[in-house]
Amino acid sequence: MIKLEGVERMNDKQRLEYLLLALEGQLSSEIDVLANISNATALIYAIVDRLNWAGFYFMRGDELVLGPFQGLPACNRIKLNAGVCGTAATTKETQLVPNVHNFPGHIACDSASNSELVIPIVKNSKVYGVLDLDSPELERFTELEATYFERFVEKLNLYIDWEEI
Ligand code: SME
Repeated sequence: MIKLEGVERMNDKQRLEYLLLALEGQLSSEIDVLANISNATALIYAIVDRLNWAGFYFMRGDELVLGPFQGLPACNRIKLNAGVCGTAATTKETQLVPNVHNFPGHIACDSASNSELVIPIVKNSKVYGVLDLDSPELERFTELEATYFERFVEKLNLYIDWEEI
């Protein structure tokens, strides 16, 4: 088990560095895919502040289906091209959305969400799903954070065989 200590005293960049270290600790000590991605969401939620939802959606046929997450119960299924998650999965590009209410087709799973960051999970050109972060604050997410969460997904890619999901 990873002990999280002193997170509340860290600035944003320190939290992001710590998050990557903690993820490495998790992935290098456990081989079970479900345990790893479940704890990955818990690490995000415990280390990164001002979030109301953090979790995964995985491709099932031609739609995204809810995976491990932290936060309130969420939409089970999202079509490709629909909302921020469906757009990230379709374009294979990170979606940094300062105000979700201005995003065409945004899916409001939790009405508290005001900004969103979605990273596509792409390995060998194939889209396996997305990592979705929601915040109650407008303009919560920065380009720096987008870069760190892309590194977060790259680290998952190194350890996880998404075909096992
Ligand atoms: N808002 C997302 C849907 C997922 S929830 O936020 C957990 C979207 O527009 O794709």
